[in-house]
Amino acid sequence: MSDPVEISGPAVAEAVESALAAVRAASSIAELKAARSVHAGEHSLLARMNASMRTVPPAEKAAAGKLIGQARATVAEAIAAREAGLAEDEERMRLASEAVDVTALPSRWNSGARHPLSLLQETVADIFVAMGWEIAEGPELEHEWFNFDALNFDEDHPARAMQDTLFVEPADRHLLLRTHTSPVQVRSLLDRPLPLYVIAPGRVYRSDELDATHTPVFTQVEGIAIDRGLTMAHLRGTLEHFARQMFGQQAQIRLRPNYFPFTEPSAEMDVWQPNAKGGARWVEWGGCGMVNPNVLRSAGIDPAEYQGFAFGMGIERTVQFRHEIADMRDFVEGDIRFSQQFGMVV
Ligand code: DAH
Repeated sequence: MSDPVEISGPAVAEAVESALAAVRAASSIAELKAARSVHAGEHSLLARMNASMRTVPPAEKAAAGKLIGQARATVAEAIAAREAGLAEDEERMRLASEAVDVTALPSRWNSGARHPLSLLQETVADIFVAMGWEIAEGPELEHEWFNFDALNFDEDHPARAMQDTLFVEPADRHLLLRTHTSPVQVRSLLDRPLPLYVIAPGRVYRSDELDATHTPVFTQVEGIAIDRGLTMAHLRGTLEHFARQMFGQQAQIRLRPNYFPFTEPSAEMDVWQPNAKGGARWVEWGGCGMVNPNVLRSAGIDPAEYQGFAFGMGIERTVQFRHEIADMRDFVEGDIRFSQQFGMVV
């Protein structure tokens, strides 16, 4: 028990005064708590005065008790009032700092743009869908059978080496990154009912170094049409329409004999560019031909009943011709300024 302290009117008044001063001076809930502990806590002067009541002679006890009781009540009230005021202040400040102006304009950020290769693949799809064709897709990790065998590439035919293939280990699973979109021809023949008019845009891979004219990852669009009585005239007409949609009404195409294992006869397709920078010229745009009967047979189709044509061209080349892009690396480097030039077509 602590030593008795003096209980007198002035002593109590002074204790109250210093308590009230401390309460007024507290400018936060934390400071107020500290003041309460000093001036109203267990070891405060007023608490010790209260404890000293035992030393007060019986005749004065009632008056002393009332004095101290009132003093403690005054201090407790002041603390409670200050606490309410401070809590209100703190709440107001918190609300002010968290306030959100819902009418404020957002800061503009530089939104990206869709990649020209994605945009052109969609444009090409639209052109063919408008003619009633369907869009097909195939896996980029492809089985060697779809990429080569079913397309009439002989086991050791040099044509297989024409395309620098990225095989995926283990080799005995015969998986590779597809070297062209032509395997989708075979997948479509196996999956879909005849007659069949399908295009398949997508990414392909070859073990090329990345430089101004090569990239190991690029994009092609494949087309295949199988019906009764299709001829090379249908192929030519389709490609001419496609070329005019891509390069303008004055565009012309020409076919030069070539070899592809999956078409017979096969042709290289050139497009006439009257407005090319260095002057009008023919440029090679893709390959095409009449689907080889062996390809039809590999999908269980009787070539005596159904025939058709196929074609395939590079999407990068097509974008390059349309926009005079000299360097293939622009397509893969991901510089947003490149994509932004093509606008945002949705
Ligand atoms: N797949 C060939 C390539 O990547 C392009 C091609 C040529 C596709 C002739 C065809 C075609 O459908 O008939 O070089």
